[in-house]
Amino acid sequence: MTSLTRFLDVYPEYVATSILDDLRATEYGRLDRLGHVYLDYTGGGLYARSQITDHLQLLADRVLGNPHSASPSSAETTGFVERTRARVLAYFNGTDDYTAIFTSNASSAMKLVGESFPFEPGGRLLFTTDNHNSANGIREFAHAKGVAAEYAPLTLPDLRLDRPETERLLEHADRGRANLFVFPAQSNFSGVKHPLDLVASARARGWHVLLDAAAFVPTSRLDLQQVAPDFVAVSFYKMFGYPTGIGCLLARKSALAALRRPWFAGGTVNFATVQGRLHLLSPGEAGFEDGTLNYLSIPAVEIGLSHLERIGLETIETRVRCLTGWLLTRLLELKHGNSRPMVRVYGPASTTLRGGTVTLNLYDPDGHLVDYRRVEELAGLEGISLRTGCFCNPGVGETAEGLTEDDIRAAVATDADMTLPRFLQFVQHRGGKSAGSIRVSFGLASNFADAERFVTFAAGFRDQTSLTLGAVTFDIESCRVIRDGS
Ligand SMILES: Cc1ncc(COP(=O)(O)O)c(C=O)c1O
Repeated sequence: MTSLTRFLDVYPEYVATSILDDLRATEYGRLDRLGHVYLDYTGGGLYARSQITDHLQLLADRVLGNPHSASPSSAETTGFVERTRARVLAYFNGTDDYTAIFTSNASSAMKLVGESFPFEPGGRLLFTTDNHNSANGIREFAHAKGVAAEYAPLTLPDLRLDRPETERLLEHADRGRANLFVFPAQSNFSGVKHPLDLVASARARGWHVLLDAAAFVPTSRLDLQQVAPDFVAVSFYKMFGYPTGIGCLLARKSALAALRRPWFAGGTVNFATVQGRLHLLSPGEAGFEDGTLNYLSIPAVEIGLSHLERIGLETIETRVRCLTGWLLTRLLELKHGNSRPMVRVYGPASTTLRGGTVTLNLYDPDGHLVDYRRVEELAGLEGISLRTGCFCNPGVGETAEGLTEDDIRAAVATDADMTLPRFLQFVQHRGGKSAGSIRVSFGLASNFADAERFVTFAAGFRDQTSLTLGAVTFDIESCRVIRDGS
C-alpha cells in the first residue's frame, strides 16, 4: 500500500478538497516549478497568481489619489477603501455593531488597543501564557498606568489553557474598572485552538476581550456574531499572502468608544488648532487610522477575500486538518534503530481543536536534542521553508520546557544583550533545558507531497548523532529533560 493510499484510507474527506490541487497547479504553480516545499503558512500565507494580476490590472486602469480630499482621484480611492472595509466586515459577519480599522498588521491593531485602553489602578490585564509578543507588549502600556499583567497558565503536555485557573482569574475583575483579557484564537506555536466561548465568559464577568485571530483566520472562519469579542486583530497576508502591510482591528463600536487615544495625527481629527491647543478626534474608525492608509494595496484585500471565498474556508480547513493529522502520526511513528522516538511534538498529538501548525524537536538515538538551527539549514538545502526559534511566543516555549522565572532572570543577569541563541546556550548549560524548536505549518496551497517531503526529511535524521547540541537528553516517553550524567 502506498503512503497516499494509506493517507486516503484514513482521511477520505481529503478527496473533496481537490480544487486545491487544481489551484496548486495554476495559481501556485511556482512552488512545484521551483521544487519548493513551503511549510511556513503561520509565518505568511502564499498569494495566488491571479491576486497579483487582478490587482495590477486594477492599478493600471485607474487614477487613484490620496483619499483625504474631494478630488475625483481621491473619491475613487475612498470608494475602494470603504468598499473593502464593508467587505471585511461582511466576511467576518460583523453587523452594525462592529467597525473595521485598517492597520499595518495584527501587531499594530493590538497596539492601538493597548495604547488607548483606559487602564487604571484596580483594573486588570489578563493574558493567556500562550500569546504572541505583539500581544504581550500591551503589558507595557498597562504597567505605565499602574496595572500589572497576569498570566493564565497552560496545561502539559497539550499546551491548552488551564480552564479552571483561567476562570478563577477572570472571576476577580472589579466591574467598576476597565479590565482587558487578551488571548489568541489559535496558537502560533502549538496550533492549539483555544476555546472561543471564553470570550462570552470573560465579557459576562466585566472584561473587555481582545482576540488575536492572526493565526486562526487563515484556515478557520471567525463569526463576530457568534464569538462577539470587543476587539479582534488580523493580518491579511497571513490569510491570503498578499498584500503585506495591511491588517485590521475589528472593533465593537461601544468598546471602541471606551478607548482613549494618546495622540492624534493627520486623518484622525475633525478639527485641530495650534493656537488653541485643541483637537477633536474623528468618530469611529477614522479616529484610529493614523495618517495616510496604504490605499493602493487596500483593494487587494478585497481580491484576496474573494479568492478565499471562491475556494471556501471549509475546504481549506479540511485539507489542512487531514495533512496535519497525517503529519503528526507519521512524525510520532519515526524511531531510531534502537527504537527510541526521533521526534517530540509540542502540543496536541491529534487534530482535535488544533490547527495546521506543528512544532517539534528532533532527538538523536541517545535522546540528545538535535540543533534546530542546523535542521533549518539542512531543510533549506532541500528547498524546504520552515521556521525555527521561539516564534515570538515565549510563554508556550517556557511552559513546554519547564523554564522558570529563575532561569530567565539568571540568563538576563549574565548577559544584558540577551538573544535567543545565547539564551538557548545558557539554559542548556544551566539546567539541560531547551528554548527553541522547529515549526512546520500548512495552508491553502499545501498538498500531500509537501507533508511527505517533510516526513522524509525528518526520517533522514534516523541514527544520526553528529547534529546534537550535546549535554541535553530528553526522555520523550516521560517528557523529562535530563542532563548528561545526571
Ligand atoms: C498569533 C499571532 N499574533 C500576532 C502575530 C503578529 O502578526 P504581524 O507580524 O503580522 O503583526 C502573529 C504573527 O506571526 C501571530 O501568529
